[in-house]
Amino acid sequence: MSQIPAFVALNADGVQLIVALSSGTPVILHFGADLGSNLDVEQLNLASQEAVPHADLDDHINPGVWREDARGFHGRPSLLGHSTGQRWASLFTIKDVAKGSDSIEIVCIDQTAALEVSVAYELANEGVLKVTQRVKNLSSEDYSVEELNAWLPLPDHATETMDFTGRWVKERQPQRREIQVGTWSREIREGRSGHDYTIVQLAMTPGANYQTGEVWSVGLQWSGNTRHLVEKLPTGRTSIGAGELLLPGEVILASGEEYVAPSLVVSYSAEGIDGITDRHYRWLRSRPNHPSVVRPRPLTLNVWEAVYFNHNLEKLTQLADVAQSIGVERFVLDDGWFGSRRNDQSGLGDWVVSKDVWPGGLKPLIDVVKSRGMEFGLWFEGEMVNPDSDLFREHPDWILQVEGRTPPKGRNQQVLDLTHHEAYDHVFGQVNALLSEYDIAYIKWDHNRTLTDAAHFGKAAVREQTKAIYRLFDELKLRHPGLEIESCSSGGGRIDLGMVNHADRFWTSDCNDALERQYIQRYTQYVIPPEMLGSHIGPTESHTTHRTHSLQFRAISALFGHAGLEWDLTQTTDEERAALKSWAQYYKSNRSLIHTGRMVRIEQSDDSAFVHGVVAQDKSRAIFALVALRAMPASTPNALRFEGLEAGASYRVKLVEPAGEANYIGRQSPKWFDGVVLTGAALARVGVRPPILAPENAVLIELERI
Ligand code: GLA
Repeated sequence: MSQIPAFVALNADGVQLIVALSSGTPVILHFGADLGSNLDVEQLNLASQEAVPHADLDDHINPGVWREDARGFHGRPSLLGHSTGQRWASLFTIKDVAKGSDSIEIVCIDQTAALEVSVAYELANEGVLKVTQRVKNLSSEDYSVEELNAWLPLPDHATETMDFTGRWVKERQPQRREIQVGTWSREIREGRSGHDYTIVQLAMTPGANYQTGEVWSVGLQWSGNTRHLVEKLPTGRTSIGAGELLLPGEVILASGEEYVAPSLVVSYSAEGIDGITDRHYRWLRSRPNHPSVVRPRPLTLNVWEAVYFNHNLEKLTQLADVAQSIGVERFVLDDGWFGSRRNDQSGLGDWVVSKDVWPGGLKPLIDVVKSRGMEFGLWFEGEMVNPDSDLFREHPDWILQVEGRTPPKGRNQQVLDLTHHEAYDHVFGQVNALLSEYDIAYIKWDHNRTLTDAAHFGKAAVREQTKAIYRLFDELKLRHPGLEIESCSSGGGRIDLGMVNHADRFWTSDCNDALERQYIQRYTQYVIPPEMLGSHIGPTESHTTHRTHSLQFRAISALFGHAGLEWDLTQTTDEERAALKSWAQYYKSNRSLIHTGRMVRIEQSDDSAFVHGVVAQDKSRAIFALVALRAMPASTPNALRFEGLEAGASYRVKLVEPAGEANYIGRQSPKWFDGVVLTGAALARVGVRPPILAPENAVLIELERI
């Protein structure tokens, strides 16, 4: 056993974690800005001891990270569990501490409860903290884990929170509010992260915005059931936490077994929300297998909104021809190619190419696609089964269900029990066979219903089902090096910081309406970088909202992501094809900037416009979009400012229209469109005067350091 130090700390990139150990339990003294190298931590600890009010326990005890009732803490504990009614009350003391250069692990024990817990902190170079907790059963009796949440204290001046809700075709709607006394709990119980999954929860100083204010964020590396928490106690103290939401009996530890909770991803920014975004992007991009590090993100055509279930080689060949002429690099065949799947009523589960639609197999189509210089992608929904399928007829017991009843159907389907080894092997085997037979670079993997009554032989199985899909993706990638996987779930229903480690792309939303996409992409991009978010130019009239938008607006909206098209291109005019070609060229020339730069969003004084952009890490270049969301309140628009540039450097600013002209509704446009030179400071504080745009329109502005 090592000597237990009084304090341990981690610092990286302006972020600091200080943990006091001298009271016998780990207490986070500080998580936030680096407090400097001459800080005396003893003195900080002394200064942090609270007064004791009347009508309370006699001595104030900081509950530390385990937040035990036994310590006199009356908020939500970190660990909840029991052994048939016993061992529910724990009191942990530090047993061991291991400190590495960027990590700390603290092991604590309660001999009476016969439990060991540990918390590990890992601070990455980019200032992103990973927190991983574990509980181990030391008794010969089983121990049921109900909750193991990880928490961090918030400073008293963090008084606001923001998180996100959403629904199909309108994912990630922000909710911002003052933190008040009570527990705010965002719970997901649908067995996948879900359309209303928050991805991260933020805490902020009052009025914090994109560039200013202090912001703390917490996300979870998990795609199953989750809980994000903010708690303020009557004492005035506030904390933020998260954990896996376990169903009753889902984790029962036999003697010597342990439960490792999904890790929290925590970050801090002293420079507003953009700072949180920047840390997450740099952290994700530092991974050697990060998709845009591996190779440039190929311009994609997904044929779903072009043909739906009407697969036909002739039509798809025509689409491939137009795609080639535009410069598309990846062609994706969506739902409808397998089994009896001619609509959404049947066939899910039978991952065998349909002889009816594809009598010669997929080879003729793949040959067409490859001969036009594109790679081929294919759609799957391997966690699901239609009752009208060969698979279900043969194995009706392979679905997640409680004995004696069948879960309600969703999109005519049930959830395949992947924790059942044979069911897992069936899906893996069929998908693997196709990936081995055909040249398939990419799969889009869907998940089109929520989990209900998700039981495996009676036992709750969301956790194991989540682990199974991670394993399946990882095994497919291992067998097929270079394979890319897109995580789709009726659009953006499975986008989270767990899936980022198993998939390369997310389908951001089934809504391809450019106006809706401005909001959905903006908020999904808080912590998920654009290169991982599919953004397609949809049809002129959106299939989900029936709004009509110009190609120009749709193209600019699709540019800030992993760009693509999802539209019947055979119906396009010559003029549209020329605009698409020019836009495709622009995407290819600028994706290295868009997929590596710092995301910047400029605060607006009204809600009629968005201004967002990407600034190169060395600040030499930037591309911004000015997006008119609705009619402006004033007759001439507010100044267009740019942040994130080098204050003292000069930049040439010009307006570019790679997908055709915007719809200007002023009598005259400003004179600087072809180029004006201003310093970074002037661009941030004064800016340029924007044109008057019709609502639901956008222009791009390029900035180049000279
Ligand atoms: C889901 C996806 C769509 C499409 C269909 C196919 O709705 O989100 O993009 O793949 O399934 O059935």
